[in-house]
Amino acid sequence: MTAPGPVIVTGGASGIGTATARALADAGRHVVVLDRNGDGAAAVAAEVDGTAVTADVADHVAIDGAVAAIVEAHGTIAGLVNNAGVGNLKPLEAYSPAEVDLIWRVNVAGTFNCLRAAAPHLRANPGSAVVNLASVSGVRPTRGEAPYSAAKAATIALTKSAALEWAPDVRVNCVSPGFVRTPLNEMLVSDDADREALESRTPLGRVGEADEAAGLIAFLLSDAAAYMTGQNLVLDGGTLLPSSQMDPTLGALLDLFG
Ligand code: NAI
Repeated sequence: MTAPGPVIVTGGASGIGTATARALADAGRHVVVLDRNGDGAAAVAAEVDGTAVTADVADHVAIDGAVAAIVEAHGTIAGLVNNAGVGNLKPLEAYSPAEVDLIWRVNVAGTFNCLRAAAPHLRANPGSAVVNLASVSGVRPTRGEAPYSAAKAATIALTKSAALEWAPDVRVNCVSPGFVRTPLNEMLVSDDADREALESRTPLGRVGEADEAAGLIAFLLSDAAAYMTGQNLVLDGGTLLPSSQMDPTLGALLDLFG
């Protein structure tokens, strides 16, 4: 049974985080919208009748304080969505140490800080659940996103360690989106030529929507996923399926002989 209590959504002021806050509120959950963007968190919290918290996930002292305040106000925590994330795009050797540090501090240490701070409360509340946001880049690393790909691979590993350590009381799963339309990538999606190129390389023929990621996250937090833990679910319209070597080769033979 789903544990009673609020669900914390980090990075809830934008994109997938906001869509998740809405989906969870629609499912009757109380949502704590945590973001470094305080005005954005307040606006989303007001919309979903939840609670806003301004904090930087990379700051472990701030996260310890935020979690203590949430438990003080609500008595417990029933769920955590580690969604706050940042990326960048450039050749590996062009990243400065400061840029790499930021990507790792937000995506990896940020997820770790929230897991660590919430752990005693989640573990004391059987039926509670966690969803971490990784990326297809963490499953199949890309050119230009080396630190981000490494950070998201680490997020998948963190998910599995936490799932093992916290079973049977807390389920911990991961969602790895492909291209999902959010403010993070609006520039690319709003350009017709760029979007059509993306769509042509996606088996389902379109980019994903934030609501679709939110639906999967809400499912993983619900009783419907009560027997799932330690999993990384890829949400990419089938983009990772083709092998760049074999699919065109065998596809051409199929066209020839099929
Ligand atoms: P977004 O840029 O629209 O929203 C990210 C939110 O996180 C913002 O509200 C921002 O203020 C907050 N945030 C960033 N750093 C923070 C920090 N240090 N502390 C607290 N809040 C912080 O991003 P989007 O697209 O909604 O992505 C959400 C998650 O999904 C991220 O982890 C991202 O890496 C992942 N993802 C997104 C994909 C996409 O196509 N949109 C693809 C693969 C993964």
